[in-house]
Amino acid sequence: MAEGRTVLNIETERLVLRPLVHTDSDSLLDIFSDPVVMEYWDGSPWRTIDQAHAFIHDAHLENERRESLTLGIFARDSGELHGKCMLFKIHEESKRAELGFGIAKSSWGKGIALEATSALVTYAFTTMALNRLEAEIDPANFGSARLLERLGFIKEGYLPERWIIDGKVSDSALYGLLIKNWQSSHSY
Ligand SMILES: CC(C)(COP(=O)(O)OP(=O)(O)OC[C@H]1O[C@@H](n2cnc3c(N)ncnc32)[C@H](O)[C@@H]1OP(=O)(O)O)[C@@H](O)C(=O)NCCC(=O)NCCS
Repeated sequence: MAEGRTVLNIETERLVLRPLVHTDSDSLLDIFSDPVVMEYWDGSPWRTIDQAHAFIHDAHLENERRESLTLGIFARDSGELHGKCMLFKIHEESKRAELGFGIAKSSWGKGIALEATSALVTYAFTTMALNRLEAEIDPANFGSARLLERLGFIKEGYLPERWIIDGKVSDSALYGLLIKNWQSSHSY
């Protein structure tokens, strides 16, 4: 097994990104039991606190194994949980990972996702020395598409009818960002 990773908190102007802990479970469930937040997710809205416990437990193990890096997004001033962002499917040899994010409905439209994911992308390309980031979204998820564009991601592919969740069929749009393009273009 690969050596565990020591994750430092990532701080931005308004936010602290840090690993989730057991006491974050209630706040996490509040966010990800919301059908509006989960509309384009590859799973149903959470229903029980056990799902939040399991998510935090699994995230901790995957962080230790360097398979993923999942961080809660907290307000620096109040400590409120705004959501989570993650690098997952980390392939160390290829220096590649997938980017994911989810923000509480009450925090939408305030630049929280852009501030958090900009910091995580910077961490991925600098501290983790990755070469390529990927993201997969529902093409109807305009907010996520715009966020990825703001981060510099390029739309690279389209996979029709890739998902069937609760009987609903949906397509996938695939996005990618190479470090060389990020270095030459990012403005955050
Ligand atoms: C998509 C999401 C992360 C955006 O979070 P947010 O904190 O509101 O985003 P920001 O305020 O940082 O905005 C980033 C950019 O996206 C744009 N944007 C955000 N939501 C939008 C929407 N619904 N439609 C169009 N553009 C949107 C913003 O205007 C901004 O672009 P701009 O600077 O050019 O104006 C949030 O809506 C969310 O968590 N959705 C549910 C979870 C989800 O779908 N995750 C992805 C699953 S793959």
